[in-house]
Amino acid sequence: MCGIIGYVGPQNAKDIIIKGLKRLEYRGYDSVGLATFEKNKINSIKCAGKVHDLEQKIDTSKFIGTSGIGHTRWATHGEPNSINAHPHVSNDGKIHLIHNGVIENYKSLKEFLIGENVKFTSDTDTEVLVQLISYIYNNEDVSFEEAVKLSLSKAVGAYGIIVMNSENKNELIAARKGSPVVIGINDKEYFISSDTSSIIEHTKNILYLDENEIISIKGDNYKVTNIDNNLIVDKKIEYLDINIEQIEKGNFEHFMLKEIFEQPAAILNAMRGRIDYSNNTIKLGGINDYALNILNSDMIYITACGTSWHAALLGSYMLENLIDIPVKVEYASEFRYRKTTVTPNSTVIAISQSGETADTLAAIAKAKYIGARTLGVVNVVGSSIAREADCGVYIHAGPEIGVASTKAFTSQVVTLNLISLFLSQTKGVNQLKINKLISEMSSIPDKIEAILSFSDEIKEIAKYYKDANNFLYLGRGFQFPVALEGALKLKEISYIHAEGYPAAEMKHGPIALIDNKMPVVFIVSKKGYSKILSNIEEVKARGGKIIIVTSVDDDELKDYSDHIIKVPHTHKFLSPILKTIPLQLLSYHIAVLKDCNVDQPRNLAKSVTVE
Ligand code: M6R
Repeated sequence: MCGIIGYVGPQNAKDIIIKGLKRLEYRGYDSVGLATFEKNKINSIKCAGKVHDLEQKIDTSKFIGTSGIGHTRWATHGEPNSINAHPHVSNDGKIHLIHNGVIENYKSLKEFLIGENVKFTSDTDTEVLVQLISYIYNNEDVSFEEAVKLSLSKAVGAYGIIVMNSENKNELIAARKGSPVVIGINDKEYFISSDTSSIIEHTKNILYLDENEIISIKGDNYKVTNIDNNLIVDKKIEYLDINIEQIEKGNFEHFMLKEIFEQPAAILNAMRGRIDYSNNTIKLGGINDYALNILNSDMIYITACGTSWHAALLGSYMLENLIDIPVKVEYASEFRYRKTTVTPNSTVIAISQSGETADTLAAIAKAKYIGARTLGVVNVVGSSIAREADCGVYIHAGPEIGVASTKAFTSQVVTLNLISLFLSQTKGVNQLKINKLISEMSSIPDKIEAILSFSDEIKEIAKYYKDANNFLYLGRGFQFPVALEGALKLKEISYIHAEGYPAAEMKHGPIALIDNKMPVVFIVSKKGYSKILSNIEEVKARGGKIIIVTSVDDDELKDYSDHIIKVPHTHKFLSPILKTIPLQLLSYHIAVLKDCNVDQPRNLAKSVTVE
């Protein structure tokens, strides 16, 4: 969840690191620090707060070196203060280390080191790594890199680390296990980071470190070694096609708003080159060779977390409808530990925007261990899940920086539509359904544009409800995952408690919450229309405030509602996309009106790389 960055090259390292940390801040934003190689020593500075706070404290005359490291933290062990901020430093002051991940056995390592008279200053798990490296380096006849490798072999848990040692000037060592590390390579300069957003303004040539690999970078040279077998690995440098505008806010006040407005383009990108409208066929190169095997699966599991899990639920409805194979949807955090019925003949689909979510990655590992086929539906190109899965389909939404996922969700839903259509087409069934759905897909971007043009009207609605303490979101069938997603979006950015339910479940409990202060958002479609009208009546009878999001053209709905948001009609598989967008805007406007930090909500981080 933390952001790490390192730089080796001819430029001022502090400037590159600060710029990079600003780009990485969406990964964690409670404390921050940096260290650079200076004349005969390493200079380091850290503080609680944001990159901006650190910048104010830096004495620029002391940070003129051309290599160094920086870290922006999302606290796991130890409160977010300057002592627990990274870099952590060895007792002798020589070794500095930054870390993204969790060292699970830090207590036993710490006990051992304390027994050896090593002093600890922080409450973090990370500090054991730097003290252990120092202990091994000072007590065993090994090189610095060897000491790092030996220390990592004793650590249980996840790490993406960068280490520097004042004895080895301008050398950075980075390693990964469970937490991503990427290296941007230019002529005579290197950028190490936990993700490419902090690198691509400098270079698009990327080396992805794989699990259990360590890289040492010095001068013009770098060397990648496998930590387990000590063999040197010949790595490929890949070209990453992302533009800097894609990771900037442009004229928008927040990344979230920019990303909501990018949805027409994101969805076009997800479909680009994959639909042949002349003969109603779908091409998905990433799963082409696997389609028949997937269709022979005894069972399909879809696993994911958070918003991606809501997309997973929609994916299960589509797949069951079109290819008639039982589909189970599991939270990745449950899937990884539960005794499931996955067999070597199952297919496990993992959905993840970041491609780095620890639980989803572990779910893929479990599926692979059992021998099941794995398919990744991922946004970030080259991310761990994309690399681990046997096959996959990128959603091509472009970088999503706002912590609240928006365009990734709608692009996931489009991509799951494409996968379901492709499998159905390969199976040779449902051609009429396929034709109907394909003919509707091309109209989705325009329909989204139409909804976005109501943003100001939705802001007016937000003004009525910004002071509510609770919200309920209710929908039936394909609109139930939309209800879940609407509630999640509201709670994560506005801190208003919100729950999503299947509308009919209301009377089994949530109805007890309804009084004249409770706003209830109904997501209404044609299917089950009369049933959901009854649910609306039930809320109205108890004085609840009713907001309706609907594609149904029925004037009567106005009488039922306090506020109504109309969206264009579309195919039921695609309707969740259109109905989600007003809910994203409603959450956004409420959060802004409440003066919440929309892009960096409290306690959250964009990519959850710890359990
Ligand atoms: O990167 P992933 O899609 O794997 O992330 C999963 C969740 O952490 C993520 O969707 C989270 O729930 C978002 N903050 C929701 O807006």
